[in-house]
Amino acid sequence: MKRSNERINTKKFKKHILCIGAGYVGGATMAVIAARCPQYLVIVVDINQEKVKRWQSDNLPIYEPGLLDVVKSARGKNLFYSAAIEENIRKADIIFVSVNTPTKLFGEGAGKTADLQYWEKTARDILRVSESDKIIVEKSTLPVRTASAMERILNSNDKGIHFEVVSNPEFLAEGSAINDLENPDRVLIGAQQTEEGQNACREIVEIYENWVPRERIITSNIWSSELSKLVANAFLAQRISSINSISALCEKTEADIGEVAHAVGKDSRIGEKFLNASVGFGGSCFKKDILNLVYICESYGLSEVAEYWERVVSINEYQESRFVQTINKALFNTIANKRIALFGFAFKANTGDTRESPAIYITKKLLEERACVVITDPKAIENARLELEGLDGNLEFQADPYQAAVNAHAIAVVTEWEAYKTLDYQSIFQHMEKPPFIFDGRNILDHRKLFEIGFNVYPLGKHPLSHL
Ligand code: NAD
Ligand code: UGA
Repeated sequence: MKRSNERINTKKFKKHILCIGAGYVGGATMAVIAARCPQYLVIVVDINQEKVKRWQSDNLPIYEPGLLDVVKSARGKNLFYSAAIEENIRKADIIFVSVNTPTKLFGEGAGKTADLQYWEKTARDILRVSESDKIIVEKSTLPVRTASAMERILNSNDKGIHFEVVSNPEFLAEGSAINDLENPDRVLIGAQQTEEGQNACREIVEIYENWVPRERIITSNIWSSELSKLVANAFLAQRISSINSISALCEKTEADIGEVAHAVGKDSRIGEKFLNASVGFGGSCFKKDILNLVYICESYGLSEVAEYWERVVSINEYQESRFVQTINKALFNTIANKRIALFGFAFKANTGDTRESPAIYITKKLLEERACVVITDPKAIENARLELEGLDGNLEFQADPYQAAVNAHAIAVVTEWEAYKTLDYQSIFQHMEKPPFIFDGRNILDHRKLFEIGFNVYPLGKHPLSHL
């Protein structure tokens, strides 16, 4: 099927939307917008041509449950993928910018603030080739007050073109992106309080109104919108670090983290969501966004506030290293030459994404201790290989979890894949070195049953079940 946009009849569409950046956010968001708004033409562009080709095929560049069906429902009708960035900028009325904004690794703010080079390059591309007024939508997560910097760059033109920058941060979580986009808790749109700003805001509201109830579409000033995105992630991550810190205390006191989380979460003011203790939070956003917030606080001289949020990240690092220490200690204080099977490498279930996955740190630490690490994951093996490229040590990748466990001394569950709950652990037990260990970094397995099979079981934040 021809999916280039060369011969699209643009006249039959109400507006021409362009999205720059065909990643997790741009790819999923635009698919849902196109599917829900057939009256808009939606073009998605990326500098990575390989990625563009994959969006044009059924072998999408990301794994996200339900995404392919949504893409297929609109692709070729009002949804197109292209590598022709400049041509599409020229034709667009509304441009969503959803390029990556990783943590800056050099110079001022290194290790904390956002690296805005991709974002700024996009702004300059837009400025260079545009021939008409446009609304620019910040979809990427950006430090507060980035929009004003962008407006200054964009409106410094002498072509008489006006660019209105609007903030519309994305709150989807990977693994549930389609549901999050189709039934969002809220959509947030921040705009300048000027007439042009409010007109642009209305245009973006109009898109979402096609499927999101109006009361869930929040409008605010542009700075509140930018800051709310960082704060939402910081609050979510803070819950995980809070419960993870208590998992360490449970292990010392024989309290049970599951029981504690259940009892605490029953208070509706606290709530049950996001209270699952884990090996630590991963993903491309929590750490980078908290550090970004820390940097902003520091730059405004708010060192106490900065330190407070920085601790959320340190507790996460503590939790990852605690997991490795538990493995080492249980295996008689030496894991050199012992085979350890990591069940899961993705940063969470239902995604192949491995960015900032706790599995990366865990693997590196195990290799430093000279363990033989075998990695298995239903969707993330390809990314795991890239993530660990060039590492010295005894490392193996194995798609089949049963094979990964053969002759292993221990299994460490790192990702909460549903499939790991229903494996035949009796058969796994038979093929492992004795005494066999299971470290459940997600507390998803039936610990009592595993113990009865003969495993030494180390859940997180619970008393271990050991035969030794
Ligand atoms: P990603 O790395 O998956 O995708 C970004 C894409 O932008 C890449 O494909 C890259 O090739 C492309 N790109 C970079 N510079 C470009 C340029 N100048 N022109 C054209 N394409 C360019 O990133 P992502 O996970 O989709 O995140 C994008 C933004 O959304 C980030 O700011 C992130 O913090 C935010 N966000 C991410 C999530 C998530 O779950 N991943 C959720 C909410 C918000
Ligand atoms: C998170 C937010 O949930 C989204 O709202 C936000 O849009 C996104 O970041 C972003 O800005 O990128 P995501 O990182 O995709 O989404 O995934 P989450 O479901 O939030 O999980 C993050 C990490 O926390 C995972 O490693 C997960 O396993 C861990 N987690 C989550 C726990 O350890 N315990 C929990 O109870 C919940």
